[in-house]
Order: sequence, then structure tokens, then C-alpha cells
Amino acid sequence: MSDSVKLSYKDQTFEFPLIEGTEKEKGIDIKSLRAQTGLITYDPGYKNTGSCESEITFLDGEEGILRYRGYSIEDLCEKASFIEVAFLLIFGELPTPKELNLFSEEIRKDSLVDEDLKTILKSFPKAAHPMGVLSSLTSALIAFNPNSVDIESDAEMREAIIMLMAKFPILASWTHRKVKGLPLNYANISFSYVENIAHMMFKMPHQEYEPSPVLVNALNKLLILHADHEQNCSTSTVRIVGSSHAGLFASVSSGISALWGPLHGGANQAVIEMLEAIQADGGDTKKFMAKAKDKEDPFRLMGFGHRVYKNFDPRARIIKKAADEVLQELGINDPVLEIAKSLEQEALNDPYFIKRKLYPNVDFYSGIIYRALGIPTEMFTVMFALGRLPGWIAQWLEMRKKNEPIGRPRQIYTGPTARTF
Ligand code: CMC
Repeated sequence: MSDSVKLSYKDQTFEFPLIEGTEKEKGIDIKSLRAQTGLITYDPGYKNTGSCESEITFLDGEEGILRYRGYSIEDLCEKASFIEVAFLLIFGELPTPKELNLFSEEIRKDSLVDEDLKTILKSFPKAAHPMGVLSSLTSALIAFNPNSVDIESDAEMREAIIMLMAKFPILASWTHRKVKGLPLNYANISFSYVENIAHMMFKMPHQEYEPSPVLVNALNKLLILHADHEQNCSTSTVRIVGSSHAGLFASVSSGISALWGPLHGGANQAVIEMLEAIQADGGDTKKFMAKAKDKEDPFRLMGFGHRVYKNFDPRARIIKKAADEVLQELGINDPVLEIAKSLEQEALNDPYFIKRKLYPNVDFYSGIIYRALGIPTEMFTVMFALGRLPGWIAQWLEMRKKNEPIGRPRQIYTGPTARTF
């Protein structure tokens, strides 16, 4: 046996093999732990638990490294389009020009949804949060496309993937149009994938619309940065739901709900709401810093800290630069952004934040860019979902192709013992 780990328990020694990834990360393979020892592991929040082996995304939280299929996030953001990155994540390699054309064309052709979906959308109150609506509409897509997909058939799988990639931006943009009381737009075949997102969200019925290059470039980067992040909360949700052999659309719909929470994707909305609250309170950032450090106070500095990045978030670096460029190009002078800058500086120099390795994460800056681009606050997490879609698809596909067992953690029961009725 190669490297292994020994566990002593009740005068017995048990041995468990180590597994090693391509980047030399090691883990203890405890598959036989319960059978051998009668014990389970206890790890709330799965902080030390590897749920799968994956070939999609590599992340080193200490070094601040993020790579999709081996390509650095810095390179991809500089040189690739979002749709190329989607292809890379889902199919494992960057597309050739021919493959890219075909993929884009297939998506364009499928950029329609059944008109009856509008009836479902109509029944939501205007004040409904777009993430709730998006999750429901994605789930409703199943009813309109009920054929089950044979996971072994590459053609059927590709069709399902194209369908989701094509229809998801329509649903996402419609959640925005609904809130604004605007007519619903379809994609324009002459636009790229990212241009179409802007077109469907912002085209007014009485005006021509040409997406601005500043907006399209920034959006392209933001979507790439959010496209995958290994076994985060929403991706783990997609995989665990899919592990019961629920379909791709149903699994993605659950992922959207998981992403909605303010500790995950919802943080970008929470950041701007926090900055606005600080502004409304008079702009005293020190007061809110004190609240964030007070253990009696549930307030947290939104947009700071990360489960895995304990040095810096590489996505935050790229997005900070993009935010600076967008603000400069658009000549935006926003008092809320001044509050963001003060908060960032204070937190970066504060012993509480330094000791706990709490740095601004991607969502600290993404909300700032979205705001500058005129995207409404309640749509921020939907933008995240648009970016994360190819990651969810890739992870779901990998999980099913490897025929992983159903996800089913155990527990340590702490309730009452048997009692008489
Ligand atoms: N403000 C103040 N204190 C914090 C913060 C924060 N934002 N984040 C963590 N801490 C403290 C926490 O109180 C704890 O202190 P102590 O050791 O004294 O008990 C320590 O830092 C460790 O925190 P934790 O909650 O155990 O860390 P975690 O890995 O479980 O949580 C997190 C990570 C992202 C949920 C958390 O940092 C947080 O709530 N941040 C704010 C929300 C946020 O910005 N989320 C977006 C993450 S990036 C987008 C994505 O990929 O989803």
C-alpha cells in the first residue's frame, strides 16, 4: 500500500489509504471507516470533507489560485469569451473555432421558450424576488420539455445542455422585466450570448438598443469569474439533487435556490444594501466595523471572508480592476462607492480581519460593477446564476457520468431516547 493513515480506537489500529489529486492535494479515503470501526466522521458544514473527485476546477485558497480545466482564471478573463469558457467547463477542452461556431449557433437556434411560460411568470406578484421566480421558471421548463434524457447518449445530453444554456438567459431577463413592468424580450439572433443578455434585459419597446462595449466586456468578465467554483454550496446542491437521478433542470433549479442565500450568491445584493444602509445612517464606517467585530451583534461585513480563500480571492483582484475601469469609463461618482473604499481600507488594516484572514471577496466588487452598469440590486444574484450555469451543468454531468452514489450524509442523533407514548 502507498501512503496511509492509521487510526487507533479501542486498542485496535485501522489503516486508511491516502488519495492524491493531480495538484498533490491529499485526502484520507474513509469509505470503509464505518464498516471497519462502527464510527462516522462529524464535520458540520463539511469544512474538511471531500465529497467527490473532480476534474473541472482547481482552487488553492492559501495561494489564491483558481483554474478551470487547468487554465488560470486570469488568462480566461483576459483572452476568452464566456461562451468559450462554458464550452471548456462542460466539455473539458477549449473549443476550436468550428466547435465554437456550432455551439453558439445551436444555442441561438434554441433561444425560445414556450409562450405558456409567460402565464406562470404573470402569476407571480411584481414584488417577488427574481431568484425565486428564476428557480420556479427553470423548474417549469421541465414540464415543457418532459422527455427524459439518456445520460449515456452524448447527442441527447448535448441537446439538454444547449436547451438550458439557450433558455436560461431568457428566463433570467424576464424576471427583471417582470419587476419593471416591461414587455418581455426574446434574443436577437445577430447578437452574441452576452450581448443578448443585455439586450433582453434592457431593450426598451420604443427604442433601438445596441449593448455598450463597456457593459459587454464587464459582463463577460463577471460571468467567467462566476462560472465555476468547485464544491460550493449551490454546486454541491446541484450534485446531491442530481445524485438521486433527478434531471438536469430540476437539479439546477435547486442550485438557484441555494445560491440565493446571503452567505453565498446573495452576498452581492447584501453588499450594496449594507453600503446603502451605512450611507443612510450617516456614513460612519467605523461604527459598522465595530458592529461586525462584536460577537453579540449578528451583523457581518458582507463581501468579506470566504470559506476557502484565506489569503486573497483571485476573482476579487480581477473584478476590482474591472470595477475601477468601468467606473472611470462611465465617469461614475457614487457616494456609496466611497463608503465601499473606506470600508475596504479599514478592514484590510484591522487586526480582527487580518487575524481571521478576512479579505474582500468577489461579491464585494461585483455588486459595485453591477450598480455602475445600471443593473438593479435585486438582479445581482441572478447575474451570478447566469455565470454559474455552465459550472452547474459541468458538475452535474461529471457526477452522473461517474455514476456517483446517492448523496446521503449521516448524523449523530442528540434527541430524546425511546420513551413511552
Ligand atoms: N464579518 C465579520 N466577521 C466575519 C465575517 C464577516 N464577513 N466572516 C467571517 N467572520 C468571522 C466569524 O465570526 C468567525 O469569527 P470567530 O473565529 O471569532 O468565531 C471567523 O471569522 C470565521 O468565520 P466562519 O463563519 O467560521 O467562516 P466560514 O468559512 O464558515 O464562512 C463566509 C465563510 C463566506 C460564509 C463568511 O465569511 C461570511 O459570512 N461572509 C459574509 C458573506 C459573504 O460575503 N459571502 C460571499 C462569499 S463569496 C461568494 C461565493 O462564492 O459564494
